[in-house]
Formats: sequence, structure tokens, C-alpha cells
Amino acid sequence: MRIVTAIPQLRSVLRAARARGDVIGFVPTMGALHDGHLALVDAVRPRAGCVVMSIFVNPLQFGPSEDLASYPRTLEGDSALAAAHDVDIVFAPSAAEMYPLPPAVAVIPVAPRPGDVALDARWEGAVRPGHFAGVLTVVAKLFHIVQPDLAAFGRKDLQQLTLIRAMVRDLNIPVDIVAVPTVRSADGLALSSRNAYLSESERARALAIPRALDAMVRAWTEGQTTDAGTLIALGHELLAQEPDVTADYLAIADAERLEPITDVVPGAVAMVAARVGRTRLIDNAVFAQAEVPR
Ligand code: PAF
Repeated sequence: MRIVTAIPQLRSVLRAARARGDVIGFVPTMGALHDGHLALVDAVRPRAGCVVMSIFVNPLQFGPSEDLASYPRTLEGDSALAAAHDVDIVFAPSAAEMYPLPPAVAVIPVAPRPGDVALDARWEGAVRPGHFAGVLTVVAKLFHIVQPDLAAFGRKDLQQLTLIRAMVRDLNIPVDIVAVPTVRSADGLALSSRNAYLSESERARALAIPRALDAMVRAWTEGQTTDAGTLIALGHELLAQEPDVTADYLAIADAERLEPITDVVPGAVAMVAARVGRTRLIDNAVFAQAEVPR
């Protein structure tokens, strides 16, 4: 496995891979790798002759009061994990390599839609203004640098996945986006690099999040109700059972545009963001009649 930090060097390595006929698979990450990231690698590996993983904590997607400074940076361990997981190239640029100049025009904001709010106006976007412009900008830059044939993103970050798909469609970026189901620990907590911030007791309390989602989906699957308000109230009840777990939002939305719905139909998603102590976690679950990976 090669670790590359400079864009020109990466381009030249990838030119050679393409000349050999390799399909390029791409896994963008901010490091602090866990099994969720490795599942992204597994999703592209069978189709790709060359798998590139980027490890870059993107300053543009953090708000001024967010955890940019404390975000876990574990490049050495991450590189070892990536190598053991059959990644071919780790691209680990510095912030100066990615953003040599403060962006003047090259930021990708999320456009408002006629008769509707912008895709980033709700949920994460509402709580974290500017976050998705930062995400889309870095992902677009990475797509231009790597020029992958396919790229994997986790379903846990559902609004991010939705926005990246929309950007790829709107800007005609020739990359196949692969959505990968959320990976959970045995007790149900969705894997996240931010889980590292949780104390033992906070981690135990954080289980209220998957419990709330499970209860909402179960109540709907068992035919108790299709009323979104009732299901959301049930979810809030479960979150409230744990002290110091505070929901930023708990909502039910359609899967395409993530707009709130009142009557829950198959394919709708329950989405939650909650603070456990000082750690902010997100998760979601699909309402599906049959067994569907969440
Ligand atoms: O999901 C993440 O880790 C980040 O938002 C991403 C897509 C790597 C962009 O920085």
C-alpha cells in the first residue's frame, strides 16, 4: 500500500493504474477508521482494481464551535488498518495541499429548489449551517483529484449521501455512488468516529438512540400506527428515559428528498441527531415491511 500526500503524485500513480485498465474505487474518510469505514472498502473492492482511501479532516465542514481541533487524528493506525484491509493507496493530504488559498469561488453551496427549501435546510444542515457546503466542496475536489469510477458512502450519514448523489447528478460527475448500510456494534450503536468521545456511561446511555429507532420501526411494522407524529413521540419517550440524552431532531422523512411526512409508508426513514453529554451522534432507520439493512 502507498501513502501519498501530494496531489500531483496521486494523479501520476492513478494515471498508471488507469493505463493498466484498473477500475478506480474510492473511499473518502476523515480517518479514525472503524469497521464502518472498512465496510466501505469492502463495498468497492470487488469492482475495483485499485482502491483509494482519502484520509482528510476537512476544516471546511466544521462550524466555528465544532470539534475540528479535537477530531481524532490517527494516521499511523489508520494506514495500518487500511493496508491490512487491502486498500491500495491512502491519500492523506495536508490542509494546505487541499486548500492552498482560501476558497474564493470554488465552494459548492446547496441551491434552494423552486417551491421547496434547499436539501440542506433541514436536519443536519439546519443544526450545522455551512456543513454540507463544506462536505460537497471537499468531495467534489476529491472526485476531481481521484476521478474514481465508483465511490462508497455510508447510509448512517443519510443527508450527506442524499446531497452527494444530488451533486453528482446535477454536475454530471461520472462516478457511481455506492450506498453502504450502517455498521453497528453488537449492542446496536451505530459505529462512528465520534463514539471515541463517549465515556463508558455515556456510551451505555447512547444506546437509547438505536432503541428509539427500533421501537419506532417495530411499532409501525406491527401495524400499531402509521402516524408519524405518534411514532416520533414514542421515539422521544425512549430517548427521554436516559438522562443527558438530548435530541437535536427526531423526524420521519421520505427517502428521496428527506422531507418530513405525516403518514409513514414503506421506504420512509426515521432520522435522529442527539447529544449524549457533549457528543453529538446521528443515526437513522428505514421503515420496511421485510427485513431491510438499516
Ligand atoms: O463522511 C465523512 O467522513 C466526510 O464527511 C467526508 C465524506 C469524508 C468528507 O469530508
